[in-house]
Amino acid sequence: MEMKKKNSSSYLLALVFILAFTFPTLLSASNSYATKDHLFPEFIKWHVYVVNSLSYNQNLFAHCKSSEDDLGVNNLSRGSNITWSFRTDFFHSTMFSCYVTKDGASLNFKAFWYDARLFDKCGWKNCIWVAKDDGVYLKNLSARLDELVYNWNAGM
Ligand SMILES: *[C@@H]1O[C@H](CO)[C@@H](O)[C@H](O)[C@H]1NC(C)=O
Ligand SMILES: *[C@@H]1O[C@H](CO)[C@@H](O)[C@H](O)[C@H]1NC(C)=O
Ligand SMILES: *[C@@H]1O[C@H](CO)[C@@H](O)[C@H](O)[C@H]1NC(C)=O
Repeated sequence: MEMKKKNSSSYLLALVFILAFTFPTLLSASNSYATKDHLFPEFIKWHVYVVNSLSYNQNLFAHCKSSEDDLGVNNLSRGSNITWSFRTDFFHSTMFSCYVTKDGASLNFKAFWYDARLFDKCGWKNCIWVAKDDGVYLKNLSARLDELVYNWNAGM
C-alpha cells in the first residue's frame, strides 16, 4: 500500500510538471484564436482594412469614420486598400462605418464594432473587408475564407 501511494503521488507530480512545461509551449505554438478570447479586447491594437477586389479595374471609393475619427474619402484602384489602427475604448462603444461606392452601386456598412464573433473572424487583430462585384466580404482568418456580409445597393 505504501508503495502504491508513493507511486501514484509521484505520477501525479510528474503529470503536474509535464502540464506546467507543456502549457506555455501549447500557448505559443498554437495560433488558435480560441485561446485569445480571454484577453481584454481593449488591450489589442486593432487593424481594419478595406480592400478593392472589384473586377475590370474598377475604382472603389471608401469613406470610413467613427464618431471621433474621419478617414476622409479614398479613391482605391483595384488591388489597393486603406488601413487604419486603433484601440477600443473601455465603454465598448468604438464603432467604425464605411460608405463605399462603385459604378452604379453603394453601401454603408459597419466595419468595426464590439463583438466577439467579429473579433474571432478578425483573428483578434486584423479585420479585413474585401469589396467584390457582388458585395463586401469579411475575411474569416482562421478558416482562410471570405464570407459575404453586405450586398451592394443599386444607386448612390
Ligand atoms: C480615381 O483614381 C483614378 C486613377 O486610379 C482616376 O482615374 C480617377 O479620376 C479618380 N477619381 C476621382 C474622382 O478622383
Ligand atoms: C494592403 O496594401 C499593402 C500595399 O499597399 C499590401 O502590402 C497589403 O498586403 C495589403 N493588405 C491587404 C489586407 O490587402
Ligand atoms: C470561420 O469559418 C469556419 C469554416 O466555415 C467556421 O467553422 C468558423 O465558425 C468561422 N469563424 C467564425 C468566427 O465565424
